[in-house]
Amino acid sequence: MRLRNLDAKYAIFFYIIKELAIFFEDDFDDRLHLNLLGTMRVIICDDHEGRRANKHNPNTIRNMSKTVEQTLLERRSIRRNTRDAIAREDLDFIFEAIRNTPTSYNGEQFSVIDIDDPGLKEELYRLTNQKQIKTCNRFLVFCADFHKIEAAAKAKGIDAGVFPHTADGYTVGVIDASLALMSALVAAESRGLATCPVGYIRTVDPDRVAELLHLPQRVAAICGLTLGIPAEMPDLKPKQPLPLLVHHNAYRSDDMTQELLDFDRTVVEYNRSRSGSKTDNDWVSHITGYYREGESYHLLQAMRRRGYLTEES
Ligand SMILES: Cc1cc2nc3c(=O)[nH]c(=O)nc-3n(C[C@H](O)[C@H](O)[C@H](O)COP(=O)(O)O)c2cc1C
Repeated sequence: MRLRNLDAKYAIFFYIIKELAIFFEDDFDDRLHLNLLGTMRVIICDDHEGRRANKHNPNTIRNMSKTVEQTLLERRSIRRNTRDAIAREDLDFIFEAIRNTPTSYNGEQFSVIDIDDPGLKEELYRLTNQKQIKTCNRFLVFCADFHKIEAAAKAKGIDAGVFPHTADGYTVGVIDASLALMSALVAAESRGLATCPVGYIRTVDPDRVAELLHLPQRVAAICGLTLGIPAEMPDLKPKQPLPLLVHHNAYRSDDMTQELLDFDRTVVEYNRSRSGSKTDNDWVSHITGYYREGESYHLLQAMRRRGYLTEES
């Protein structure tokens, strides 16, 4: 590291603080950092610049004009964002992509809550313990929504029935909200933005989330999506090989056990060697651990309180 035109002691001090903040997750305010460095007229350059740029300069790690292949095949969840704002034009494109989502019956059984209020993001972060909610520029909450059609039906004197109370009605809302999330995610990815879905918004405390977001009956949060300017570029995670995912004409009838165990081993090897924090996590016990956590959510009762799933059909 070569330092020009400054008091080297202060530069090194702030450099260490910054690196520590990055190491312990990025709560550090980049603007404060840049202001401090600016005031001291610090120029950190040469060999160090490449590493810093790769990790923190959004314009270096952000590919703003991706091909469809890059958008889909180089996508990864990104949980660290810089404090920079997403351009209005990018947000407009994301919202238009959401708007053009295919939906069941063309009924558009979904709504999105677009959140940039720091206090609200902080509350949702505290609820879910998902730090990316706090550091992202926008947090979108995708909701299943039968409130709108019911309000319109009421205004026209039409009985809207009990569809949201059936398993298929709930599923329709979940699918529409999920597809809208994927529209937003792909649009954001194509502009080089950081994205990360947040399922905890559905599971940890549906009543409190509904209260915080003022959700009317028949509107239920299904999944969140953080959007921001990437401050990291994690390794791509291994995925199941195609023969396990895509079955030709009918579900495979041969024994898949060895391929499944091979994939489990691939996940262990990835977790042991990936860049950033390393673990010994496998696929099977790690994921079934999540399932066990999920067994305690009692979502059926929570969804019934939101106005869904009271029918036996
Ligand atoms: C419905 C859904 C919910 C998710 N919820 C969370 C979450 O609450 N927190 C989180 O850090 N990642 C969450 N993720 C991201 C997954 O952990 C991530 O997609 C998975 O580990 C694969 O990594 P990749 O997206 O980088 O390929 C969620 C993804 C999906 C599709």
